Amino acid sequence: MIVVFLFLLSLASIKALPQGAPTKVCGTMRPFHGGGIPPQTDISPYSIYMRRQGGNVIVTLKSDLNIPFQGFMLQAKTPNRELLGTFQPIGNEAHTIDCVQSEDTLTHNAAQNKDMIEVEWQPPEDYEGPVIFNTTFAQNYQTFWVGVESQPLRVGKRFADDPVPNVPSRSKSTTPPNFFPDTVKQSETVFDPFYEGCSVSKLCFGAPANCVNSKNCKAVAAVTVSGDRYEFEMKANVNPGWVGVGLSDDAKMGDDSVIECVRDGNRPIKAFMSWTSGSPNFGAARVRNPQLGIRLLNSSVVNNVIYCKVARDLKTKVNGKDFDLANDKYHLLVAAGSDVTATSVGFHSLAYLASGEKKSLSDVSAVAAASKLLIRLHGSFMLAAWIGTVSVGTLLARYYRTTWVGSSICGKDIWFAWHRMFMVLTWALTVTGFVLIFVEVRAWSPGPHPILGTITTVLCFLQPIGAYFRPHPGTPRRPIFNWIHWFGGNAAHIIGIVTIFYAVKLAKAELPEFMDWILVAYVAFHVVVHLVLSIIGCISEKSSERRVTSFPMKDLGGSGRSSAYADRNADAPYSGFRKFILAIYIVVILAIVVALIVITALAPIEESWQNLRDSVMKSE
Ligand SMILES: *[C@@H]1O[C@H](CO)[C@@H](O)[C@H](O)[C@H]1NC(C)=O
Ligand SMILES: *[C@@H]1O[C@H](CO)[C@@H](O)[C@H](O)[C@H]1NC(C)=O
Repeated sequence: MIVVFLFLLSLASIKALPQGAPTKVCGTMRPFHGGGIPPQTDISPYSIYMRRQGGNVIVTLKSDLNIPFQGFMLQAKTPNRELLGTFQPIGNEAHTIDCVQSEDTLTHNAAQNKDMIEVEWQPPEDYEGPVIFNTTFAQNYQTFWVGVESQPLRVGKRFADDPVPNVPSRSKSTTPPNFFPDTVKQSETVFDPFYEGCSVSKLCFGAPANCVNSKNCKAVAAVTVSGDRYEFEMKANVNPGWVGVGLSDDAKMGDDSVIECVRDGNRPIKAFMSWTSGSPNFGAARVRNPQLGIRLLNSSVVNNVIYCKVARDLKTKVNGKDFDLANDKYHLLVAAGSDVTATSVGFHSLAYLASGEKKSLSDVSAVAAASKLLIRLHGSFMLAAWIGTVSVGTLLARYYRTTWVGSSICGKDIWFAWHRMFMVLTWALTVTGFVLIFVEVRAWSPGPHPILGTITTVLCFLQPIGAYFRPHPGTPRRPIFNWIHWFGGNAAHIIGIVTIFYAVKLAKAELPEFMDWILVAYVAFHVVVHLVLSIIGCISEKSSERRVTSFPMKDLGGSGRSSAYADRNADAPYSGFRKFILAIYIVVILAIVVALIVITALAPIEESWQNLRDSVMKSE
């Protein structure tokens, strides 16, 4: 992580100064980090050691807990807070700046981790009295302590042999604030410390559903409560630009208070408070003071995994709404997305999930996701319709008009009766699936899937209406109907398949990537069967004298189904083979539909497999 030490240059302009503190902050010693990240108020983990060398003092800055620091600013002062003496850096990690007099302040050269800084300080010739070394330590960009004072040390000729006070600086801290040693990092793939303590000491919730158990969430949040301290940890591992956790009253987006951790390019992670808007313009806008009530405690970006830890005040008022973490219950929303702008985050394109029940944040028992029944039904219905029934229905209409000639169902040609049945099924499944998804999401969501899906549904909805009012065969307007019906049906089918491809990309659907390949296999199979049947149609036409054709375009141009037939009592040639192809087609399509529906119903399927494997292992 590249951490930049930022200082306030003027009220208006902020510049990153990785090369150390500028003279502007001589008086305050306070870095201006991240638009006003406050300094830490607890005891710093860093100490100031002193030892005499002649009349000079060797000052050592370091952590008793071996926590490296990245930036610092050191001044020597009288008890009246006047700057005193000059510094002479030892080593090449620091340089002096001139605040009041020359070389009276020391700061870092670069914002890399350093374990220790040593410097020689020379008191003014004529000074006798105490000196206090005053230091600002920055552990990283967002964690810093301002004005850590050393014990007073008396300097001057008279005190040259006095023992140095034994106590390094202020009272020593024993527990490292916000610091956990890096030791767990290497083994992260096998052992993810994030999940340690889930359901035991912290409340964890992640997307996709149930991923906390399998420790493979795309985005996960955890709430740890100790006393009045509420800490939210977040992590997203799919190369995200941001990850967020929301507190919601209704398990739906809209009017929720969100803490978002944002990575903007190579810059360090920042935490913001934002507020979601629901339908129709889903989004999360930062609140006016996006740091109010929250404090970023730790963050990292390792191998495109974002992690952050944010403390949130017990009580906050966001957008006029009171959030009382101790007394109120909330649905948790967890989300992650890739797009980030300077002032907001983009759509939760990578993961999104809402908890099914409201929970008190201090209740660490496992949180279940809101039911996904409607989404799964929507997916299953649409797959059954647009991979299943529509494919068979079109095939029948296109190539089987001269098969089963002579027999009929309820006075209709067999191909027509079946075509109608499959298409009515398609229509019913599509309309139901369409209604279901709007019952679930209650609003319009962005993206190609909803747009294409709606176009498909509208086309599909109109098809039977058009068919009902179709002109009689043989009338002059019949060919027009044939063309429109053919075009509407095929357009709907193609757009429908594209829509399904886009569904695989939806985080909400939790579909595996390999589903794309099943869909590709379907498309290939469908095309091959159409080719084979078209070729058979040509051959069959050639080999017979009849003007009957199973080739669709001719039929469409002709004057309708029955009148085009020269001989209504016999099938076109190769009918047996066509029936055979149809049987194979139906079996394969059925298998594909079943596979796709199983994947959709059990989504996320990787996890279902894992659970299955686990239960098999257990029973062995
Ligand atoms: C040390 O620096 C801090 C922050 O600027 C200041 O509040 C404090 O008074 C300083 N202490 C001394 C002894 O100058
Ligand atoms: C911050 O979190 C990371 C990831 O969990 C951890 O490895 C690291 O030690 C933490 N650092 C601090 C300063 O808390």
